[in-house]
Amino acid sequence: MKDDLYFYNENHTSKPMRLLFCSTNLGKTQEIQYKFGKFIDIQNLLDVGCEEAIPETANSFEGNALLKAQYGYEKFKLACFSDDSGLEVIALNNQPGVFSARYAGVPKSDKRNMDKLLFELKGLKNRKACFKTVIVYIDSSGKAFSFEGKIEGEIIEEKRGEHGFGYDPIFQPKGYAKTFAEMSLAEKSELSHRAIALEKFHAFIFKK
Ligand code: IMP
Repeated sequence: MKDDLYFYNENHTSKPMRLLFCSTNLGKTQEIQYKFGKFIDIQNLLDVGCEEAIPETANSFEGNALLKAQYGYEKFKLACFSDDSGLEVIALNNQPGVFSARYAGVPKSDKRNMDKLLFELKGLKNRKACFKTVIVYIDSSGKAFSFEGKIEGEIIEEKRGEHGFGYDPIFQPKGYAKTFAEMSLAEKSELSHRAIALEKFHAFIFKK
């Protein structure tokens, strides 16, 4: 398994192991690098000169995560992983779900997505929501493995906080008085949906 991690040997840095993350999302990359940074140097698609938007045509997080990881594996012939994630709002029948990134249309805009969600929830008492992540890892033999993370919380009425990305300023995890955007990277990385999935992924790749 360790061999999978030596995917990209030119330009060695002080970090010995590198792994391709099939995403151009800088917010996700930062969180993943924070969690894994001591052990693995994460390279996203931009780092390897790939700016193509990978089609996300499946109707589940797992399906889309698999599409993204397969794209990376086929293009670079390397072990790699992806993250598909989103926000499910109970009162909106679990929308925006897999459409979270493009909820208010294209081009993608975190601001317009949040404004649309706040508008849809205006006057509603039930503001329960959850964030979900599915990470799919494809090893060097082409075998896929998936890891899930979920966190419950609520959509607050006005944006608060400057950190993070996506819907972070309007999502307050259950049992906390701060939104994700009011938390530092270290705080969010202790409890988020992505952190939960990453811990499972980490245990998996280092057990071998
Ligand atoms: P995708 O996984 O690239 O399809 O996009 C997921 C979208 O869900 C992001 O663009 C964000 O809008 C939202 N999202 C996923 N994870 C988070 C998070 O940790 N914080 C805030 N928004 C998130």
